[in-house]
Formats: sequence, C-alpha cells, structure tokens
Amino acid sequence: MKDDNFIIIAVDGGAASGKSSTSKLLSKRLNLLYVNTGSHYRTLTWAILKAGYSVTDVDPIVSHLKAIDIGTRIEGKEAHITLDKRIPGQEIRSEQVNEAVSIVAAIPEVRLFLLTYQRSYEQLAREAGFSGLIMEGRDIGSIIFPDADFRFFMSADEGERTRRRRLEGQIDSIQKRDQLDTKRKTAPLTYTEGAILVDTTYLSLNEVADKMTSLIHLVEKTDPKPQENLGKNTKS
Ligand code: CDP
Repeated sequence: MKDDNFIIIAVDGGAASGKSSTSKLLSKRLNLLYVNTGSHYRTLTWAILKAGYSVTDVDPIVSHLKAIDIGTRIEGKEAHITLDKRIPGQEIRSEQVNEAVSIVAAIPEVRLFLLTYQRSYEQLAREAGFSGLIMEGRDIGSIIFPDADFRFFMSADEGERTRRRRLEGQIDSIQKRDQLDTKRKTAPLTYTEGAILVDTTYLSLNEVADKMTSLIHLVEKTDPKPQENLGKNTKS
C-alpha cells in the first residue's frame, strides 16, 4: 500500500471461478474501480472476427490492431472498454467469441497492445476519486500489476464451474479455454507465489466476499503481505 492508501487488488483465475461477481461486489463495498480484462480480449476478438479475419491469421491480425479504436467509459464503479466509442453488448459473449477468444489472447502482440491500456486504469481510478482499483483476469497478479497490494487466485471444481455457466445460459467450453489459457507461452493463467488462494466451490458469493473483505481490512491495519488459503474444502 502506498502512502495515499490507494489499493490495487488483482484477481485471477479460470473461467467461471467467481472472479467477476466477487470483484464487482468488492468494488461496491470498498469504493474501487472494477475492471474486467476478459471483456478487453473479448472486444478485440469480436473486432477481429467482424473485420473478417480468421483467428489463425496471426500476421494480418497483428497489422489490424492499430486500426482498432478502443477507449474507456466509467459507469458507476465499473470501467467499460469501448469499441468505436460505444460499449460492446452481448455480442462479445457469443458462442463465436467464446470459441475464438483464447486463441486471440495467446498472440503476444495482442497482449502487448492491451498491457499499457490496462495499466493506465490505475491513474484513471485515482483521478476519478476511487479508493483503489480491482482488476480481474488471467495475468493481473503476474504481469499487469505484480506489485498489487492484494493478489487473489480464485478456483472452483470444474463441475461447479460448468454448472454456473449453464445457469447463465451460455454455451462455453470452459475446459478448452482453461487449457489454452494455461498452456500458452505468453502470460499463461498460473498461480503466482504469494497470491491468496480462494476456493469458491462451496462458498456463496457473500461468503467469498466477506472472507476477502476481512482479510483486506486486517492487512490494512497490520500491513504484512498476506499469504493464506481461503475457502479450501469448507462445505457449507
Ligand atoms: O468470464 P470468464 O472467466 O469465462 O472469461 P473472461 O474473463 O471473459 O475471459 C475470456 C478470455 O480472455 C479468457 O479465456 C482468456 O483467454 C482471455 N483473457 C486473458 O488471456 N487474460 C486476461 N487477463 C483476461 C482474459
């Protein structure tokens, strides 16, 4: 934590591990700007598919990146990526994008394109008067903000994660995406030393958020770097 008490929280984990709902809830509780970086990769993937590229056309995709017009709009506590000045809708959650996004996200130039953009959210959150920033994704604690005040790594059993996605009405091969995200060379999804493990399989959203919030408050008072397992095998 820096002198001004502004906190940065990095939340990483596989598909449907509970990152988004927990991060959103924490952003409200703690007045943090919430950023979902999965939507950044989804938006670029949508723009690339819309422009007619196949995800295997790596060189043309890389050349096309500079033609993609992205920006940011803050609504409440949530920061949204914009594409051509508008916030993308459900098209970025389509089956077509679910299928393609992990392939696009494995292209190093695509990740580099988003790195500065994602880091710029710290300044944005400060200027907008937030108490901090909570950013979720796959490489936030490892690459984007390795010095974050809190690095959480969320997980849940695969069966439970598939059930959650079905309840959302989505056709999404989370197993395939997780495999691609874990195996890629650049910024793979991985647990990094010192991150706080949160197993959400048997915990409700409020229980997960309560555990994370109390840990944050505790550390804010005492200030050692936390290292703990939250939620492991706690059936409720
Ligand atoms: O919501 P869910 O966890 O299923 O996925 P998402 O957060 O919307 O992310 C979609 C995809 O974007 C992931 O499967 C990754 O391929 C990619 N991604 C990434 O590579 N790095 C991030 N920081 C965030 C997402």
